[in-house]
Amino acid sequence: MKGVIFRAFLDHVGQTYGENITEQLILNCNLSSGGAYTSVGTYDTGELLSLISGLTDLTGTESTSIVKNFGKALFPILVEKYPSVVQHANNAFELISSVDNHIHIEVLKLYPDAGLPTFSPELKSPTCMWLKYDSERGLPELAEGLLQGCIDYFGEEVEIEWQDLSGGANTHVLFKLQKKEQVNGYS
Ligand code: HEM
Repeated sequence: MKGVIFRAFLDHVGQTYGENITEQLILNCNLSSGGAYTSVGTYDTGELLSLISGLTDLTGTESTSIVKNFGKALFPILVEKYPSVVQHANNAFELISSVDNHIHIEVLKLYPDAGLPTFSPELKSPTCMWLKYDSERGLPELAEGLLQGCIDYFGEEVEIEWQDLSGGANTHVLFKLQKKEQVNGYS
């Protein structure tokens, strides 16, 4: 996994739990990188998993919440870092539909060795999208957090549900995104 993700993770930990926890976490995890990541470097995805379980040990927060909250925080970080990659989209569904055939293709130009998932979107109605996620890394909570971050970025309200289609490995997952009804008129 690219260093840009590790750096964002450690920044997020510092902002959420404080710098002392970040330092303690790096010490506890005995990382082969020593916790020093460059954006362009590539590191073992296992290091991210160690950091996540180390953070659960230190804070008592469940790993699934850690990953989801990180994904949510990661979206605006990525947008700030790579604004041109997202400027074509006017709403969340437009952006989400373009992750596979535009955004991650641009990511591959920047980082040819990036390990990216596959997303297959299907618009069921103007308010409902199904999105198939396939990745050998099996990180649907990260995807869910990024989707939530994207929805928040556009100030929209969309309910996210997902189900694992891979019998527990989380490598093939179906997301169902449902825009909440706008309540118009007067109450
Ligand atoms: C809603 C929007 C997005 C979703 C759902 C999404 C989803 C994901 C997921 C789940 C991963 C983890 C790898 C895996 O599961 O196999 C990933 C990796 C990544 N994504 Fe996205 N992404 C989104 C938008 C973006 C944007 C806007 C950028 C920035 C231009 C970006 C750049 C990256 C990078 C750099 C990686 C790491 C690749 C690596 O470490 O090798 N993504 N994305």
